[in-house]
Amino acid sequence: MIINSIIRWIHLLAATTWVGGMIFHLFIAFPALTTPQQGQRVTVNATILSRFLKVVWVSVGVLILTGIWNLNVRIHQAVPPDFSWWVAFLIKFLLVLGMISMSGKLHFAIVPKLKEIATPPSTASGGEGGETELATLQKKAMGLTRGTLLLGIVVLLLAAYLTLLSSG
Ligand code: HEM
Repeated sequence: MIINSIIRWIHLLAATTWVGGMIFHLFIAFPALTTPQQGQRVTVNATILSRFLKVVWVSVGVLILTGIWNLNVRIHQAVPPDFSWWVAFLIKFLLVLGMISMSGKLHFAIVPKLKEIATPPSTASGGEGGETELATLQKKAMGLTRGTLLLGIVVLLLAAYLTLLSSG
């Protein structure tokens, strides 16, 4: 049915937006922030992250809704999913939960702190201690982005495997 193809296309579009956005941030945007002032670098990075994470939540919503649709379509096919399909699907689902919780931690715990500490007055008065805290938070932010990307790549591999199993 054409509607199923459209829903799959939207699912793919949302997955590409999330994973592609992380690749762009890690390999292009972040390395391009070369200002010598660490505070400024962190502020710009935190701004990019918080803008990107808003897009991520839209993608997550779309992935969940279209994912439920895909699941419903798959379950009702003439040949129902076998055991290996369910195992791969369960792993995919758990990894997606991992991606969501890492993005949540980044957006609601790390990015606000980064923004707060990186503002010029607090950096100026924070001295070396402020710089160290900034560096630690920045590392955590980039570590979480890397971790989410890694899980996303495995999720894509599992999605390819699921599709292969479904096509026989
Ligand atoms: C709760 C979230 C999700 C659910 C319930 C879900 C469910 C599904 C299902 C049932 C399929 C069809 C598998 C088959 O053909 O047998 C599918 C395909 C796919 N999913 Fe997801 N998914 C979710 C999240 C994600 C995420 C986060 C990504 C990537 C970051 C992703 C990427 C894909 C891709 C690339 C396909 C293959 C589409 C195709 O071949 O047409 N999914 N998903």
